[in-house]
This record gives sequence, C-alpha cells and structure tokens, in this order.
Amino acid sequence: MTVAESALNSTTNPTAQFLEKLADSLAGKGSVESSFVKLSLGKYRGEDATLNKISVRVLEVKGQPHLSFVFHYQTKDVTKNFSFDEGIAKITMYLDQSHLESFKSAHLRLQTEEIQLAFNKKNQPSIHVQKTAETVVTAKAHDREKFRYIDINRPFLKGLGVTDANYQLIPAMSRKWKQINKFIEVFQHAFESLKLPQSHPVHVVDFGAGKGYLTFAIHDFLRENLGFTANVTGVELRADLVKLCGNVIDQLSLDGLAFYQGDVRSYHPDAVDVMIALHACDVATDYALHTGIRLGASIIMCAPCCHKQVRPQIQSPQVLRPMLQHGVHLGQEAEMLTDGLRALLLEACGYETKVFEFVSLEHTSKNKMILAVKRDNFSKKTEILKQIESIKAFYGIQEQCLETLLRDDGLLA
Ligand SMILES: C[S@@+](CC[C@H](N)C(=O)[O-])C[C@H]1O[C@@H](n2cnc3c(N)ncnc32)[C@H](O)[C@@H]1O
Repeated sequence: MTVAESALNSTTNPTAQFLEKLADSLAGKGSVESSFVKLSLGKYRGEDATLNKISVRVLEVKGQPHLSFVFHYQTKDVTKNFSFDEGIAKITMYLDQSHLESFKSAHLRLQTEEIQLAFNKKNQPSIHVQKTAETVVTAKAHDREKFRYIDINRPFLKGLGVTDANYQLIPAMSRKWKQINKFIEVFQHAFESLKLPQSHPVHVVDFGAGKGYLTFAIHDFLRENLGFTANVTGVELRADLVKLCGNVIDQLSLDGLAFYQGDVRSYHPDAVDVMIALHACDVATDYALHTGIRLGASIIMCAPCCHKQVRPQIQSPQVLRPMLQHGVHLGQEAEMLTDGLRALLLEACGYETKVFEFVSLEHTSKNKMILAVKRDNFSKKTEILKQIESIKAFYGIQEQCLETLLRDDGLLA
C-alpha cells in the first residue's frame, strides 16, 4: 500500500463527499479502480452499548445486487440485506450526527482507494483519502478470482471456525471452504431446475450433518441468496456436535435452522423437499435415501461413505475372480455395486439421477456424489427393476438395504 495520503479539499461537506463516493462506487461510475469493495461503520453513539460496528458488502439476492449489513454485537452478528437505495439511505442516517443511532467513523474501501470519514467531539466531519497500490481482487473486478457461492463474510462461517474474527479464511479450512462452495454449486443447479415459486417454503433435512458446515451453508444460501423461507434440520448422532451447532444458531439468532440429536433411523420428518446425506456411514445412507424417496423429496443429494452391507455377499463371477481376489478391488467393486443399485433404485422411483465426482473430505478420500431430481413422468420402473435383478443375480447379492426398505413400503410395486 502506498501512502499517498491527502486531505480532500473541503469545498463541499465531507459527509456529502463520502456519500457521493459511496453512491458512485456502487453505481459503477468511473473506472473499475473506484468500484466498491466494502464499508464499515464504527464508534457507535446509540443506545445499544453491545453494538460494536456494522460492516457492509455487496451480495446478490434473488439475482439482484444488494447491500448486506452485518451488525456486529458483542455476542452475536445479525445480518440484514437492503437494496442499494435503501442501504445508502441507512448509511446516510447513521452518519447524521443529530440522529440517535449515529456512528462517528466510517471507512469505505474501493478498489484502489480507502476513504475515512471521522467526526470530532463537536461532531465536525473530516475526510481522508488514501491511495492504495494493490487492487483488491473481487469477482467483478478480476476474472481470475474464483466465484464463490457463499460470501466469505457470512457470520456462520466465523461461528463454525471456517473464518477467523476478521472473516479471513483459516488456512486449515480451505478444503472445507472449497467443498461448501462446490456443494452449493451442485445444489443451485438442481434447485433452479425445479422452478419453485419463492412463496414455496423449502424443507431440508441433512442426515449425518456432522459439524453442520453444509447444513448452515444451505440454510444461508436459500434464505440470504435466494430469498426462500427455508426450514433446515441437521440430524446427527453425536451430542457434542449438535450442541456446538445449537450454540452457533443461538449466537447468530438464526431462524429456520435446528439440529436433532439421534440416529438417522429415528428421525421421521413430515415433509422433505431437499434430502442431503453426505458421508453418513454405510446403511445410514440407505435409511436417509428411503426417507427422501418416501416423502417425495424433489432433490436428493448423497455422498455415500462405507459400503459394508454388500461386500460380504459378493459371489465373484467366475470371469472376474482373478481381479476380485485382491481385497482393494473387491472393496471398489462393492462400492460401485452398492451405489449403482442405489442410483437405479432412485431412477425406478421417478428420479433423474447422476453419479459424479465431488470434493473429497479431509478425513476420507470418498468423493462420489449421487444427485437425484424428481421428475414428472420419469419412471421406467419395470425396465429398471429387471436391470437391478440381473445385476444382483450376476454378483449373487441377496439383499440391499434401500431396496428392502422400498419394497417393504410398497414403493417398488
Ligand atoms: C463424515 S461426517 C460428515 C458430515 C457432513 N455430512 C459433511 O459432509 O461435512 C459423518 C457424520 O455422520 C454422522 N452419522 C453417521 N451415522 C449416523 C447415523 N446413523 N445417524 C446419525 N448420524 C450419523 C457421524 O456422527 C458424523 O458426524
């Protein structure tokens, strides 16, 4: 950063100059260098002594750019989104020192400028502009910057320890950050294809939610980015993780997000639009898939984990025996067979299904995703059930958990 600091010639009111810079930077007037990066308001003079500062970023909501205000309180962060006009009106109000809710300092970061507005004890404003040598890289300003589906400044990322107190990515979490964004990218494409009206409340269940990274992410994305009323439940065996996630929900006062402590098998929701099961162990994936199918979930996203049920049943076909004598190959075969059968069962139940590579987790190399989207008139049931029978006969498979659950419910009849 160069230190070419200069006080602006105050022929006009510094507050008005500051606000003009803000409005111009948002309107895209001038060069890319003067485009908006972020804004913060500090030294709050209002009644709520727990409010420390407000930080403001641009965020897309329902396809429209908005100003996302994060109100940083001592024990929680609260986010509110406004249109550009509403946001500028709010900031104008906060900088009016006769207002009860005023702030005595404001910092505007543009691509190559930092503008600081401060009020002294007599409430007289002064403005300083500092040129910066480095350009802040944003998706809009620079093609090389990777587009992210979730804004790194979202408070839940800090709450879950993906980012630090200054909303910077914690290096050890970079793989998780990548996985969160990839997951949302896959979800968004599937969700868009449903063409749901915004009035439709969206029920999401995340089975085997773990520390809740994806559970919080989908809740945040549906509500903040897409503007849907989302009700999201994470189902998790481990009480310590459920408690941790509950604390973050309380801290951020989040609505429509809850965690249930218990086995996948013991959670029976009334409705599910989106069923997620990423790396839930072994047949827990089958129980989750069954719940999603039984309740007619529109989207099912699943990354299977271990495949213990099918492997001991495999009677290696004669021609494959020299290959499958190796344990590692048998394991791979069991995985392909289990997930192949799951994908076919989903298709038999009217889902358009894709199996592809996803991002592996830090503690497992498994990176396969099964994405299923419910389609009207998509059932080729009879033909697919025959294929399933042939495959099972070829490998000598007696039972696959999902198939049994679906048959018991009469869903394959
Ligand atoms: C590898 S973690 C994955 C967490 C998260 N889905 C993700 O992908 O980031 C799997 C989680 O599933 C939970 N789990 C495994 N079997 C389960 C079951 N039968 N019922 C509920 N949770 C289960 C585990 O406790 C663990 O926290």
